[in-house]
Parts: sequence; C-alpha cells; structure tokens
Amino acid sequence: MAFDVTAFNPHDPAFLADPYAVYAQFRKEAPVAKVAPYGSYWVFRHEDVKTVLTATDLFLKSPPAQNAQAPVKTVLSTLPPGVFSMDPPRHNVVRPILDGLFASAITQAPALASQKAGLLIANARVSRRIELVADFATPLPASVLLSVLGIPGADSQAVSTWVGGALAGHDITASASAKGMAGTCALALGAYFQALMRLCPAHAELTGMVPSMARAGLGAGMSFEEAQQSAVNLVIAGYLSTTFLICSGVLNLIKTPGMWQALREAPQKIPVAIEEMMRFDAPAQLVDRYAAADTELAGVALKAGDAVTAVLGSANRDSAAFPNADTFDIERSPNEHVAFGSGIHYCLGAPLARLVAPVAIEALLEAFPSLTLAGLPQWQTDPYLRALASLPLAIG
Ligand code: HEM
Repeated sequence: MAFDVTAFNPHDPAFLADPYAVYAQFRKEAPVAKVAPYGSYWVFRHEDVKTVLTATDLFLKSPPAQNAQAPVKTVLSTLPPGVFSMDPPRHNVVRPILDGLFASAITQAPALASQKAGLLIANARVSRRIELVADFATPLPASVLLSVLGIPGADSQAVSTWVGGALAGHDITASASAKGMAGTCALALGAYFQALMRLCPAHAELTGMVPSMARAGLGAGMSFEEAQQSAVNLVIAGYLSTTFLICSGVLNLIKTPGMWQALREAPQKIPVAIEEMMRFDAPAQLVDRYAAADTELAGVALKAGDAVTAVLGSANRDSAAFPNADTFDIERSPNEHVAFGSGIHYCLGAPLARLVAPVAIEALLEAFPSLTLAGLPQWQTDPYLRALASLPLAIG
C-alpha cells in the first residue's frame, strides 16, 4: 500500500512510544512532508536536516519580513527575542558574549553534580527503588543549572515551578488552561530575571551566569531585554533536557543485556557512551525554522514564511549517516549526531550537559550493580521531546 502522509498522527501513542520506524518510512517515501496539525514541513533525512540547521540565509528562527509598519498580531511577539529565537545579525553579537560568560559560569558544575548525586543516591539506597525521573534525573541537573545561572537558593522552588508550567504548555494537545498557565509562567520568568538583573549592580554577592549577563554582558553589547529573554531561554532550554538524556540513556543501557555491567567496569567509556545516548534518543526531537525566501528542499517547493521542522531524532537514525543506525552502540565513533543541533544555533548548554550527564551516569553505575524495570516506562506526549515521564527501577 502506498505511504499516506496525511494518515500520520504525531500524537499517536504508538508513534510516541517508538517513532523510529515511522521516521524511516518518511526518510524513504516522503523526506520533506507537511505534517498536520502543525502545518509545518517536517524534514527527515540527515543531509536535509543539516541544510535546515546550517543554511542560516535560507532558514530563520523568526518569521521573515517583519515590517515595522505591519499591524501588530500579538504584543508579545514584538518583544526583542532572546538568543534562542534570534537570527543574524543580532545573534552574531549576542551568542559569543553568552558563550564566554557561560564557560566561566560552569566551572563548579561537576563538583555540584557529584555532591547532589551522592545525596539522591543515599535516599534511593534506603528505599531499594528509584523512580529515575523524579528521584534523580530531574533534581540533579536542575539544581546544577539553577546554581550555574546564579538563582538564589530561596528562589529555586518558585523558578522550578514556573519552568515546569512553561514547559507543560508546549504540547499542542495540552488543555487551554495549561497553555494559558504556560504563558503566565513564561511572563513570570521574564519578570523574575528582570528583577534579578536590576539587583546586580548593588549586590556583589550575586554571582553566576545571569548576574554576569547583567554586568559584563550588557557592557559587551547585549541590550537589557536581550539579556532578560536569553536568561528565560537558558532556564527553559536547560531545565529538563539533561533529565531526558539521563533517563532514556539509562533505559537503553539496561535494555541491552550485559551493557550496564560492561560500562560499570569501564567508566572511562562513559563520555563516548553519552554521545550515543544523545544520538539514539535525541532529547529534543524537533526544532523549528521558517523559510526566508521561496526555495526547494529534497524536491519540495517551500514559500517564504513556510514553517519548517528539522526532525533531529530521524536524522540521528539515518543509515546514510550512521552505520547500523538502529543499533545502540556505546562505543560508536565517530558519532556526528545532531542532538545538540548544528551551525550557529548549536546548543549553548552543550558544555554543561557534557559535564553533568557523565557525573550522573557514573554515580548510578558506581552505586548500583544492576537496575531493572519495576514498572512500565511512560513517555511524554509532546513529539518535540523524547522524554520519559516515569521510569520506575528496582535496585539490584
Ligand atoms: C542533553 C541536553 C540538551 C540537549 C539535547 C539540547 C538540545 C539543543 C538543541 C537541539 C538546540 C538547537 C536548537 C535549534 O537549532 O533550534 C539547542 C539550543 C540551545 N540550548 Fe540546548 N540542549 C541541552 C542542554 C541545554 C542546557 C543545559 C542549556 C542551558 C544551560 C541549553 C540551552 C540552549 C540554548 C540557550 C540554545 C539556543 C542557542 C542558540 O540559538 O544560539 N541547552 N539545545
């Protein structure tokens, strides 16, 4: 039977549980295809995904031709974007400033991660069970991130709640009230970072990424609003992505007989294994762009302004780029996955994820000779994410 693109439902639970066979079919039959209900052209092949990510003259983060005289659609869309939604030329100015500040902000991250891992593992030892998402993989990277960003400890609960609310509304099938709450939470985060940055000149004790943005960043050429929105981007983009990586990574390790024990005996292989965890189940499956002008991709005509979605999770399983692409091979090298994106928008937080994830995985390997499933893993319902909602494990 012919492949019917219109029958594809990205919210089908069977697709969400294992999207890879469907991606393979798209790569073969319809490598660039308009997907309802998103109204966006999804791009499935590795080569085409790389083009979407790197041809920044053809594919933009924000819709093209925003004319200052055009009628206002929503007031919020007129705010200056943070680094995540920025295109050149501002991106060329802001991104290097943030990269420099971030490199200094993350120096203590491995020590913080290791300390937090120790506390969480001690709790798990007592109960002999661990629900990996809530008991380990969320609090560990989240506490490191909030500390790296310079959020005072007394505010961390409120910030975490707002980030959770903002992320919950991303799924287009979320209820209207969850979407409304997501907007409220994003605004709360903006107001929070505005207040934090305003405190910085008079409070030398405030340190970390956001205070550095408020001091050195503004001096180096970022506007106050760009810094404020970039802080919102950092906390939202950084909060759960490493969580998803740790969880799907652990699940893949324990699903393959003998792999947990093998890695336990060779912890020096963890960094290479982490790259394979990223490739095999990319935490961010989809990233969005807009066509800058009329163009063509894999024979499909795109009009200026068309929404285009790079399917990172599919590119990472493309056998044209990876031998035995559907095999989870923790010694795979080279491994040119696109789980952190590619080109000028390559993940700003990648250096932090690459510090925290190995500490987390090594702490689990060291503490537990074996982990086994103690219930069904549950996947979240947003196709943008490869994200476990729950991973109950018994400790061996
Ligand atoms: C395993 C963890 C992570 C994954 C898989 C991931 C994935 C990605 C991807 C795919 C992009 C490119 C988006 C695009 O091209 O549209 C990106 C960008 C970004 N990420 Fe991450 N990320 C991770 C961790 C983090 C962390 C910890 C932070 C914050 C500390 C962070 C902050 C950002 C920011 C600010 C951008 C925008 C960069 C730009 O547009 O110049 N990410 N990330």
